[in-house]
Amino acid sequence: MASSSPIISIFILFLCTCFPNSSSSLPFIVLHGIGDQCSNKGMTQFTQKLSSLSKSQGFCIEIGDGAWDSWFMPLLEQTQVVCDKVKEMKELSNGYNIVGLSQGNVIGRGVVEFCDGGPQVNNLISLGGPHAGTASVPLCGSGIFCIIADALIKSEIYSDYIQEHLAPSGYLKLPNNIDAYLQNCRFLPKLNNEVPEERNSTYKERFSSLQNLVLIMFEQDTVLIPKETAWFGYYPDGHFSPVLAPQQTNLYIEDWIGLRTLDEAGRVKYINVSGNHLGISDNDIKKHVIPYLKDEDITIDDKISQVAVALQGYSSSYTWPPSVQSFFSDLLRLSNVY
Ligand SMILES: *[C@@H]1O[C@H](CO)[C@@H](O)[C@H](O)[C@H]1NC(C)=O
Ligand SMILES: *[C@@H]1O[C@H](CO)[C@@H](O)[C@H](O)[C@H]1NC(C)=O
Repeated sequence: MASSSPIISIFILFLCTCFPNSSSSLPFIVLHGIGDQCSNKGMTQFTQKLSSLSKSQGFCIEIGDGAWDSWFMPLLEQTQVVCDKVKEMKELSNGYNIVGLSQGNVIGRGVVEFCDGGPQVNNLISLGGPHAGTASVPLCGSGIFCIIADALIKSEIYSDYIQEHLAPSGYLKLPNNIDAYLQNCRFLPKLNNEVPEERNSTYKERFSSLQNLVLIMFEQDTVLIPKETAWFGYYPDGHFSPVLAPQQTNLYIEDWIGLRTLDEAGRVKYINVSGNHLGISDNDIKKHVIPYLKDEDITIDDKISQVAVALQGYSSSYTWPPSVQSFFSDLLRLSNVY
């Protein structure tokens, strides 16, 4: 017996290394961006693509009814919805990874930090996340309606009404209005432990326990202002320039949430890819996302070459539901009353 077991072990090891089955790697969840939903073709394909390339089980987690709630349900509530769901999923009970798209990243990080009794998150892979805030709501860009709506949002964004009804107001951080932001913004200041007397070391503890934090920034991102927020870079308080590198921010220097701890342990990957917001190429997915969804023992290049999947370009479409427009015309009407 004693003499045969090493041979058996080696054989088993060989089998496991070469033919890993999906049960050997952690599952992952995908959290979509604003205005999107899991039933959209783009999201279904994205989740399937990650799954087939990584050989890991993947789940797109929906919040409420999808696109509408992604806009209008406050982010603390959205986070709670995901927290409740991941606690109920038996598949995740041994731990899992999160892939976040845009707004989905602050929700994902909310789950890591706030979800009491939730399963352990191993890797957080962030594509274009507004981690340090964004200085503009990415609505339409130009045209009179957009200009008015944008102005209205900027004047009212930290009011109770907007905070309770517009999800992105939870991470809109206007550098010229930091006092109001810290006092009235309900999500990001909490998520980033920004308010001195309200810092919670549990959030830091949980965030620091990530194995890998993969921060993917899009070089031509015109949605996140500034794009470096995807790396936790941001403007200094009071000014719209220059953009501070993550390591120059107080969040990092004073280590409010453990970003510095993670970085010093070599667990933060700052990745820079070309493309506009979420326009990631298949090559970059294979290079920067898939390795963190696979079993750590498996060599990366090896498996990628074995997986022959017809890849269609995943391009995220930013089309706002018509309901969003009426929401803003209501707001405009509201403001005309006064
Ligand atoms: C900090 O967060 C944890 C986890 O949510 C919570 O149990 C605890 O009460 C919080 N501590 C304070 C001081 O708010
Ligand atoms: C990202 O990559 C581009 C092209 O390689 C480079 O010009 C740019 O400086 C990089 N940005 C950062 C912040 O490293």
